[in-house]
Order: sequence, then structure tokens, then C-alpha cells
Amino acid sequence: MKKLSLPQASRLTSPNPVTVICTHKPDGSPNLATVSWWTYLSFNPDMIAFAMAKTSYTGERVRQSGKAILTIPGAAIAEAVMGCGSTTGRDTDKVAKFGVELAQVEGSDIQIPLHSRVAIQCSLKEYHETGDHYLYICNVEQVYGDAAEEALFAWNGYSKLAPAAK
Ligand SMILES: Cc1cc2nc3c(=O)[nH]c(=O)nc-3n(C[C@H](O)[C@H](O)[C@H](O)COP(=O)(O)O)c2cc1C
Repeated sequence: MKKLSLPQASRLTSPNPVTVICTHKPDGSPNLATVSWWTYLSFNPDMIAFAMAKTSYTGERVRQSGKAILTIPGAAIAEAVMGCGSTTGRDTDKVAKFGVELAQVEGSDIQIPLHSRVAIQCSLKEYHETGDHYLYICNVEQVYGDAAEEALFAWNGYSKLAPAAK
């Protein structure tokens, strides 16, 4: 085997997961950010975690509001999901810019993309500094799914979004 950097390894582990972390801004408007670094943590109780750069607006909103909805985006919104991963909600209305159709989630004031395969509504339990990211550890409040939506994955590291090959 050859020595690799961790980013090089992430290309070899493709397809990597893709999520859209949905939060709201202080005025209640939605923000969407693309996040690959997430994991299930526990099924009893239900817990998940995701890592976001310290500078991300989404992370700031999760720390302030204590809540988020993690979604697995459907193939229909691949381009918008790439856009949500290269702009920040600090200065961009991503929903308008990328034309993302939203849906309400019962029991939450955070909206999610209509084309979502899974939505995991969560509340922040704790967060930890991990290098240049914070790791957000969350309790799962509710889970929704729609098997008719085809899941997106990140290929060649994180450079292309497409369904997994069948
Ligand atoms: C495919 C893909 C995966 C990404 N995964 C992550 C990730 O796991 N963690 C992270 O902090 N940023 C990730 N990003 C970058 C963020 O989406 C990007 O920094 C975004 O501008 C954050 O938006 P916000 O400032 O509105 O939160 C990813 C981007 C793409 C395109």
C-alpha cells in the first residue's frame, strides 16, 4: 500500500454520504448546507453526529438554536445540493438562489427540501472541538422517510453528486 493524505483517502472511500443540514436563520428563513461527515451514533437512545467547519453558518445556528434537521437529499436536487455546499447562508438565500422546493416537517419549524429520502429531526446534545471542525452530537427526535426518492452520494471525494451505481 502507498502512504496517502486523509483527503486522498476520502477519494478512495467514494461514494461518500451526502446530507443537507437544514436550520433556520434568526428571522425564521431557511438555510441549507451540504455535509458529508455524518454518522449514526446510537440506536438506544437514537443519536447521530455530524462535523462542520468552525466557520460554517449552519454550525453557528445549531449552537444558537439547539436544533437542526439532517436530510438525505434526493437525486432530483443534485445541482442545488452542490450549490448549497459552496455558498454560505451568512450572505446568500440558498433556497431562492438554487430554486429548492421546500416541505414542512410535522412538529418542527425548520423546513426541508421536498426531494428528501430521509429526514432526521434532531436536537443538539453537545458539541466538541475536533481540529478545524466542531462535532455536533445530537439526540434524534423524529425520523421520516420516502423510499421513492433516490439517495445522492458524493463521488471522487466530494466533487460530484450522483446516485450510487447499481
Ligand atoms: C459534497 C460536499 C460535502 C461537504 N461536506 C461538508 C462537511 O462534512 N462538513 C463541512 O463543514 N462542510 C462540508 N461541505 C462544505 C459546506 O457545505 C460549505 O462550507 C457551506 O458553504 C456551508 O454553508 P453555511 O455557511 O451556510 O453553513 C461540503 C460541501 C460539499 C459540496
